[in-house]
Amino acid sequence: MRPTTTALLRHAGVSRGQRCIDIGCGGGHVSQELARRVGSDGSVVGVDLDETVLELARADAQAAGLHNVEFRVGKAQQIDGGPYDVAYARFLLSHVEEPLSVVRATAEAVNPGGTVIVEDIDFSGSFCSPPCPAYQRYVDLYRETVRRRGGNADIGPLLPSILQAAGLRNVAVAVVQPCGLEGDAKLVSPLTLARIANSVVAEGVTTTNEVNQTISALYAYHADPTTIMSLPAWCKPGPVADRVRLRACFTMRRRRAGASRRSRSRGA
Ligand SMILES: C[S@@+](CC[C@H](N)C(=O)[O-])C[C@H]1O[C@@H](n2cnc3c(N)ncnc32)[C@H](O)[C@@H]1O
Repeated sequence: MRPTTTALLRHAGVSRGQRCIDIGCGGGHVSQELARRVGSDGSVVGVDLDETVLELARADAQAAGLHNVEFRVGKAQQIDGGPYDVAYARFLLSHVEEPLSVVRATAEAVNPGGTVIVEDIDFSGSFCSPPCPAYQRYVDLYRETVRRRGGNADIGPLLPSILQAAGLRNVAVAVVQPCGLEGDAKLVSPLTLARIANSVVAEGVTTTNEVNQTISALYAYHADPTTIMSLPAWCKPGPVADRVRLRACFTMRRRRAGASRRSRSRGA
């Protein structure tokens, strides 16, 4: 996940001296990446609803020696402390009930000429070969659980139109979808299903028994070196989440063509 996000930030022109906000920052992995890019004369604010993950994010940033990033409790629907040069959100919009209103609030939080960058998932694009009923069941369980919680795990292809509906200009899009015959790429599915098992059952999507059977079948499929699985998107903080990606729509947008005023004034 990190290489593609890093490439996206570079491509979007995130540069030294900029003020950034990472909305729904979770464990702050991208906040840290932003902090490195903007340097000591720039700054990053990571915002999340969850104070527990913010504590972890603060500790990680401190351990990494980053002093230009801070983490605050806050809601994506109400972004304070702007205007920012860059507003970023990864795997947030798939979890909110009204992504358009979040994108509108995000757009309001950036300078004219600033940049909004969002990354999110398209779970419907998951694939494996040869066909594996357990894999398809896992995909369905994930999508249905997110749906019952008011989100949309297939939001990726909708991102450009959401950004445009929020009045943003110069929208661009790209898609990445890692997959593999072995290793982490194939471990993601059983690990993800184990991670969301309580939510799946709590939402009444299925039973603990079926979840456990599906996880076992995914591990069996994983062990066969002739099978291929794409990486399902999952984005909780932690070492596994860092390596997980199913299919992400990378959408960036600049309100006006060219870099932000601050970037221009610094010759970036
Ligand atoms: C799937 S995680 C993604 C974390 C991080 N962006 C990443 O890519 O690693 C989604 C995060 O969004 C946060 N979140 C969900 N709804 C939110 C809201 N309305 N306002 C702020 N944060 C929110 C959750 O607490 C969670 O940490």
